[in-house]
Amino acid sequence: MLFDTHAHYDDEAFDADRDDVLSSMPEKNVGLIVNPGCTVASSAAAVTLAERYPHVYAAVGIHPENCGDFVPEHMDEIRALAAHPKAVAIGEIGLDYYWPENPPRELQQEVLRRHMALAEELKLPVIIHDREAHADSLAIVGEFPAVTGVFHCFSGSVEMARELLKRGWMLSFNGAITFKNARKAPEVIAEIPMDRLMIETDSPYLTPVPCRGRRNDSGYLHLVAERIAGIKGLSADEVERITWENGKRFFGIE
Ligand code: NI
Repeated sequence: MLFDTHAHYDDEAFDADRDDVLSSMPEKNVGLIVNPGCTVASSAAAVTLAERYPHVYAAVGIHPENCGDFVPEHMDEIRALAAHPKAVAIGEIGLDYYWPENPPRELQQEVLRRHMALAEELKLPVIIHDREAHADSLAIVGEFPAVTGVFHCFSGSVEMARELLKRGWMLSFNGAITFKNARKAPEVIAEIPMDRLMIETDSPYLTPVPCRGRRNDSGYLHLVAERIAGIKGLSADEVERITWENGKRFFGIE
């Protein structure tokens, strides 16, 4: 079975058919899904989905693009949600310097540090979003050496990947690695050991080729596994089995 370690089923893109899509995943060979939250409300929705579906788990946190209205009380709500038995990580958190209209960098950094501190306190792994913010992301997670996690949709260099591996972190990849312009990620995948790699869809975004342009869901995850298999010279079944075990170990799922 495939483990989709990052998908946003609380997104409004699934409002019309969320139950159909999620219920159908086990028969499409997707046996586990982690749904990260992006706001307090979205984290609560992720926990609700995790309660409803045995194959869905939640991560809770505030995405850097959504931290513009942050108040410290939000951390109390995230902390309460993180206590749920199916909340397996703090995320999606991080830094996003790509969009000029994003919240100020100093605020993004403060919100990231608060989530890292919470993860340290609760002994949970983190799911990091890092877009055009590699140096600051590495520096801030490095302030919390007791915390490890995954850089999702990893877009850094081979050197950055090596540094994260040295610190015990995981990297995860999605449909972006199937795009024609993907250059760095295939190099990184070729370089890193299989036991540090996870797969994801980031649904509803980043639908893999040849289905790019459609709404993404975990049913397309096999295309990511197949691309990694091609890069690593493994069978897709081997990639499926190894990334399944990696995901269960990383999130502490029995
Ligand atoms: Ni995401």
